[in-house]
Amino acid sequence: MLLDGKLISEEIKKRVAEEVYSLNDTLTLAIILVGKDPASEIYVNSKTKACEKAGIKTKDYFLDNKIPEKELIDLIRTLNEDPLITGILVQMPLPSHISEDNVVNSIDPAKDVDGLNIINQGKLLNNANCIVPATPKGILSLLKRYFVEISGKHAVIIGRSKLVGKPMALLLLNNNATITVCHSRTENLKEIVKRADIVIVAIGKPKFLTADMVKKDAAVIDVGINRVQGKIVGDVDFEEVSEVASYITPVPRGVGPMTIASLLENVVKCYHMQNK
Ligand SMILES: NC(=O)c1ccc[n+]([C@@H]2O[C@H](COP(=O)([O-])OP(=O)(O)OC[C@H]3O[C@@H](n4cnc5c(N)ncnc54)[C@H](OP(=O)(O)O)[C@@H]3O)[C@@H](O)[C@H]2O)c1
Repeated sequence: MLLDGKLISEEIKKRVAEEVYSLNDTLTLAIILVGKDPASEIYVNSKTKACEKAGIKTKDYFLDNKIPEKELIDLIRTLNEDPLITGILVQMPLPSHISEDNVVNSIDPAKDVDGLNIINQGKLLNNANCIVPATPKGILSLLKRYFVEISGKHAVIIGRSKLVGKPMALLLLNNNATITVCHSRTENLKEIVKRADIVIVAIGKPKFLTADMVKKDAAVIDVGINRVQGKIVGDVDFEEVSEVASYITPVPRGVGPMTIASLLENVVKCYHMQNK
C-alpha cells in the first residue's frame, strides 16, 4: 500500500490552519537564508508558501554568504528576544566558515522549529516534551496514520544524520520499536536490513535500496531526494521494492510534503511553548 504523504500532509495542514485561525493571534516564522544556494531557495520558498496558506506569517532574512558567524548569531539573539517572532528557521547548509552547531544552539529552544538545538535533542533522548525535527516527526505521523505497527517491531534506519537518522531512531525507540542504525561504515548492511519490519532510508543515494535487501511485507520509508537527469528520485528503487513491501512511500509525494506539514505543526507547538 502506498503511504500517501501528499494526502496526509493536506489533512495536517488543514488542521494547522484551523488551529492557527482559532488562536486569534499572529504567528510569525523568521526564515534565515545565508547565501544563494538554488536548492535552499526552493526549500525556503515552499516553506514560505505553506506558512502563508496556514495563516502563519513569515519574515525573511536573506543574508550575504560572507556574513560573519557572530553577526548571524546576533540576529538570532535579537529574534529570540522579539515577542512577535514565534519560530526561527535557519536554512541549512550554512557556508563553511560558520559552525552550524553554534548557530542552532543560539536559537531559543522554544523557538527552535527545526528541533536541532541541543536542548531539544536532549529532551528527545529523554522522551520529554520537545520540538522534534520535522522529517522524522512527519514519518512517524505517516506510519501512525496508516496504522503501521511500530511497538515491538524491528526498525532499521539507514543514515545517522542529526536532522533525520538519529532523531528518527530515538522517536521509534520512544514508540517501543527495536532499533538498528546503519551508516557508511556498517558491515553486512544487506543482512541487517533484510531482518527489518520497518526500513527507513535517508542517505542521498539514488535507488540504493533494492528488492533483494527487503523482507517480504516490510514497511519502507524513502527519505532521499536526489536529482537524476532532471527528475527527483528517492533512495529506494520504488518499482522493485513496491513488489515486496507491504507499505511504501513514493518520491515525490511521500516524506517531503510530510516534512513541510510537520514544520507547520512545530510553529504552532512553539507558540504554545511560549504561551503556557
Ligand atoms: N524528504 C525530506 O523532507 C528530506 C529531509 C531531509 C533530508 N532529505 C534527504 O535525505 C537524504 C539524507 O539526508 P541527510 O541530511 O540525513 O544526509 P547526510 O547528513 O548527508 O547523511 C547521510 C547519511 O547516510 C549515510 N550513508 C551514506 N552513504 C551510505 C551507504 N552507502 N551506506 C550506508 N549509509 C550511508 C552516512 O553515513 P556516515 O555518517 O557514516 O557518513 C550519513 O549518516 C538526502 O537525500 C536528503 O536530500 C529529505
